[in-house]
Amino acid sequence: MSQKIAGVKGMNDLLAPDIAVWHALEAATRRTFERFGYEEARTPVVEDTALFVRSVGEATDIVGKEMYTFEDKAGRSLSLRPEGTAPLVRAYIEHAVAQKEPLTRWWYLGPMFRYERMKTGRYRQFWQVGAEAYGAAGPAQEAELIDLAMQLFRSVGLGAIRLEINSLGDADTRPRYLEELRAFLRRRKGDLCAECQERIEKNPLRVFDCKNPGCQAVLKEAPAITDALGPEAKEHFAGLQRKLAALDIPFTVNPRMVRGLDYYTRTAFEFLSDDAVLGTASAVGGGGRYDRLVKELGGPDTPAVGWALGLDRLCLLMRAAGEVKPLGPELFVAVAEEGVADAALAVVSRLRKAGHRVDFDPRGGSLKSQMKRADRSGATFALVLGSKELTSGSAELKPLGGGDPISVRLDALETALASGR
Ligand code: HAM
Repeated sequence: MSQKIAGVKGMNDLLAPDIAVWHALEAATRRTFERFGYEEARTPVVEDTALFVRSVGEATDIVGKEMYTFEDKAGRSLSLRPEGTAPLVRAYIEHAVAQKEPLTRWWYLGPMFRYERMKTGRYRQFWQVGAEAYGAAGPAQEAELIDLAMQLFRSVGLGAIRLEINSLGDADTRPRYLEELRAFLRRRKGDLCAECQERIEKNPLRVFDCKNPGCQAVLKEAPAITDALGPEAKEHFAGLQRKLAALDIPFTVNPRMVRGLDYYTRTAFEFLSDDAVLGTASAVGGGGRYDRLVKELGGPDTPAVGWALGLDRLCLLMRAAGEVKPLGPELFVAVAEEGVADAALAVVSRLRKAGHRVDFDPRGGSLKSQMKRADRSGATFALVLGSKELTSGSAELKPLGGGDPISVRLDALETALASGR
């Protein structure tokens, strides 16, 4: 026997029956974005490495440690996208979208890649759905995006997801706060892990991402960024809180939530679940405002906000809630004699053409084995076709969940199935 080849570690196959949960989530996602007037944008999974270095940030874990980077045959450095914001900004600039319309609201869905340490809810290929809105500077844009996510959660039965918000300030407040934080961290350097000691000078905000209990204890006493906000950022943050209140969306202000990407300005937020099925991976989504990124990547000065949700994590929650059932066939057609197989196949095809979910066993076989398969398929009805049925033009629809068979004319099967739905 030849040797088996396993799938790549941390990259999952999504198969039945779980795929039904994915379909339900994806369908709800599309419907929600339609209601909000967002348009889908699809970009390649591979981008120039420099795009992520310059946007997500060289000192972040995502770029510093987790990217799948390789050289193509022409020696260009490319990376599998670790996130979707930078690629969309790249497309927004490349297609000069700002010149065509002042406000653009896009969404995307697809696989992202990060070479992370794996655990429940954390994979190396994972799926995100994201939304990015360009052109609106006021907090109404954050409020709309948060409302959208909350409506999506609720539509798939995940109404318990919590919202945490923070403000990371503006260009003027950030350096001031960073100096304050640096001074504090330098004083407590001895209590920090080696990695955080290095972060003090390089990128002190990243210390907040550290899971080390010693570092976490130190951070409890750290100055809060919300205390360092300038008047405009403060008013923006207060405005967002008023709008969330008007929308009846509960939230907590968490001044220690800084997010793992460098492009944020002002608002940052996270969607969290306390469900044990996620283990420690409690963030089902996150996002924020990134008013400088479009310009920094060579585009016009354009305010922007967005978020991304982890579909793998949302699917774990939905599966645990158990609300999604795979949609079985309405009808399973079994063949009593080999001689009628072609006529039966024609019935199957005709009903499928009419829009019904119909199954049969292409291997044929004994009626007993076909009926076993019918039971396993989760079909509502079974129909056994033999020469008797084809000659008389009528057969019995057998409800597989129990109950009396219903006699139907073969040329009226569509009507019978429509009424049996
Ligand atoms: P992020 O917080 O890095 O943000 O990722 C968003 C969500 O993706 C996380 O909350 C989590 O649910 C999911 N996720 C991240 N890494 C993994 C993983 N290794 N395995 C499974 N799920 C994961 C961003 O990516 C930003 N681009 C969000 C954004 C959009 N900000 C502005 N616009």
